[in-house]
Order: sequence, then C-alpha cells, then structure tokens
Amino acid sequence: MTARERIRWGSATAAYQIEGATDGDGRVASIWDEFTARPGTIARGDTAAVACRAYDDPEPMLAAIAWLGVETYRLSIAWCRVITGPEGDVNPAGVAYYRRVLGELRVRGVKPVVTLYHWDLPQWLQDRGGWADPGVIDAFVHFTEIAAREFGDLVSDWITINEPFCAAFHGHLSGLHAPGIRHEPTALRAALMQLVAHGAAVRALRAADPEARIGLAINLSDLEAASSSPEDVAATRRADLVENRLFLEPILTGRLPDDTAAHFGEPALAAALDGIDIASAAVPIDFIGINYYEHNVIRAAEHGNDPIVRGIEKLPVPEPRSANGVAVRPDGFVRVLSRVSALAPDLPIWVTENGIGLWDYLSPDGRCNDVERVAFIDRYLDALEDAVERGVRVEAYYFWSLMDNFEWSHGFQLRYGLFYTDYPSGHLTPKASAERYRERISRAAASPVRERQAG
Ligand code: FCB
Repeated sequence: MTARERIRWGSATAAYQIEGATDGDGRVASIWDEFTARPGTIARGDTAAVACRAYDDPEPMLAAIAWLGVETYRLSIAWCRVITGPEGDVNPAGVAYYRRVLGELRVRGVKPVVTLYHWDLPQWLQDRGGWADPGVIDAFVHFTEIAAREFGDLVSDWITINEPFCAAFHGHLSGLHAPGIRHEPTALRAALMQLVAHGAAVRALRAADPEARIGLAINLSDLEAASSSPEDVAATRRADLVENRLFLEPILTGRLPDDTAAHFGEPALAAALDGIDIASAAVPIDFIGINYYEHNVIRAAEHGNDPIVRGIEKLPVPEPRSANGVAVRPDGFVRVLSRVSALAPDLPIWVTENGIGLWDYLSPDGRCNDVERVAFIDRYLDALEDAVERGVRVEAYYFWSLMDNFEWSHGFQLRYGLFYTDYPSGHLTPKASAERYRERISRAAASPVRERQAG
C-alpha cells in the first residue's frame, strides 16, 4: 500500500517554562516552585513566577503561533493547575485557562498535542515520595482521566510523559533539576516508575477516547566511543544503557536491558521494581516522540566527569556547538531517528523537540539576528528531510521552542526561542530563525506530497 504523507511542522513549549502566575487562581505548588526557591539551584536565582506571562495573557503566544504558520503546537497542561490536592478536586480556573488556549488554537486551525507531565509534579505528591512512591501512578491516572474528560473534545493527540530520563536522573541523581535529590537507586526507581505511569496513562486515555493518538517523548543521545578499545566501547555502552536503552527497551518490549543490574546493582534494581510491573510500560502507542539534542564522544575513566553515568568521561564538544556546549550534529539526529526506525519500523516517529540554546540579544534596531539558529534549522531540517526520503517514518517535527522561556537550571539566560521574549514586558519579537522556519514550512507545504511505502 502506498501512503501519501508529509511531515507536520510545529513548535513546542511547556507549562512551567512559560506560564508564570505560579500563585494564581487556585494553582497548587509544584516541585519546581520549591526547587527554584532554594538558593543556588538556578542561574542568577531566576524563578518562573512571571516567565512569559502566558497564563495572564496567552495572546502574544497565540499570535506568534499564527505568525509562524505551524500546523501543530505542543503544549503541556500543569497538573498542579488542574488538580488541587490529594482529594483529587478539580480547579475550574485551571481548566478554563487551558480550554481557552485550546479553543483559540482550534479557531486558528492549529492542532494541539498535549503533554501531561512536563516535570511539574505537584509538591503534595513529592511530600508522599514523588516518583519513588507507587501511589504516584494512581494520582497520574486520575489527572489523566480528568484531562481527557475536560479537554478531550479539543485534544486528540497526547504525550503522557516528557523525557523521563531527565526527570529521573537530573531530578534524583545529578541534583540539577527538581526535586534535587542525589541518590542513584532513587533515580532508577523514578525512571521505571515513570515508564509504568506512562503505560497506565495510555490505557486511561485509550479508554476515554479510542480514536486518540497517544505517545510519550523520550530524549535520546547519539553516543560515539572515543576509541575502539574495549574500555571505551564498554563505557559508551553504559552511557547508552542509562541515556537510551533504559527507556527505549521497556517501552518497546516491556523488558529491561540485560545490563541494567550490572550497572545499577541487583539490590537497587530489586528496590526499583518493588511493587511495579515494568512489562506494563509496553502498551501499544500510536507514535514515539523523540527529543533530540545530544551527541557525545565517550571515554572510559575511573573518576569520570558525568554526574549521571559512573566511569565515563564525555570529551569536550568541538564547534559548532550551542551556548551551553551541546554539539550541533545533524548526523547524530539522523542516526538516532534511524536507530528507532530500525527497532520499531511500523511505529511513526514524532520529533517532539529539537533546538539550540544561545545567548540571544536584541540589536539596537530591535532585531534578533540569531545566525547560528538559522543555520541550525537549515542543517537539521535538510537532514530530517533526507532521512524521510530514505524511509524513516517521521510524521511530525516540533521546534523547541516557540519563544524564549524559563530554561530550568539555566533560568532565563539561555534562550531557545524562535521568538525573543522581552521578560519585563512579555513582548515577543520574531528572530531571524522564526523567519527562516516560517519560510521552510511554507516551502514544504508548497512542495509535492511525497510518496512513501507503508505497511
Ligand atoms: C528539554 C526539555 C525542554 C527544554 C529543552 C531545551 O530537555 O524537555 O523543556 O528545556 O530541553
């Protein structure tokens, strides 16, 4: 059978990074409110209390989406704005806000994909053990059911969890993210708990709407051994376990990678699996979301330099690289996509994030000429289109991010937006990259629909 398909172009944000109004309208605290209040956690002591003001005034964001001409927009719904606490009560103001945004997207002909968990765990759940406590699964299913009930008429595409790797290992091992714990067994537990919660949420969404398209967004890294020595190859395999296979394999097969116990230790693995069934993570999904940023060259090192994977050293990243030292490697992007495509040839891929962090600024003429991001867009989209020509089944691409926003531990310093956010006023200015992305989208829309073999 021949399918006529083409990539749907979009851009992405997440609730905590853009909304502000952290005390507003019945919202309860999230782990990030607590974390950002701790001295020394966030660059310059920034907090997301105001951010891009998208809660108080979503209009600039909606206008930016329309200006770009994207067909789809990825946003997240803040659990702590919708559910008020352990009793599971619903906050009508939070529901009304997201219904307004989703309704406006519909009016503008933009299809939303909604992330349910983009790292903003309610603090009351953290107080009960957070992602280390199996009670979080029922709470997540409850939130998912409420989201399906309240927004299901406006949303048919859902992402259960965003980057369980970061939430687990930066949240519970490197200490870079909320809740700021540093304990490897807890990080492993949090990783597996999120995968099981993902499975449970897929089942809840499916029950609510059999037509829904459901997936999750995992970040995958492209890793290369510094040499062919057995030590470097083994070190690269350990990094691949923690950063990639620990997530890919349970989702696709229901099984943990064979080397999980060897890396984390039998007792930690047994504790991580206590009371949960990892096989339940392998529920059928309609797409797999991939967030691509990282390419690293790995060397074995007894006292390594990675805060998450023991015994490895990540070599300095040569230029071109982002302002925070992430490699610009479109070839790595293609390798990651091809790897997933080889593992699951029938599963559509949505690139749920891809982008570059820079120290952007407005010139005196009021423009932001982000030449590196313009080049990034050209190189990554060319690579993506080639991969699709060669049979990788990518259905959607979301540029991270629509606008500069609260970049977690980097605060507001590091900018990822297509639009420059003037934080004091909330004003958004399209950067040169926004113009380029808009151009690329309209060029792609005008080009003939490609023929592709399917099924
Ligand atoms: C990803 C996150 C996203 C954003 C980008 C730059 O890890 O999912 O929220 O911070 O990185």
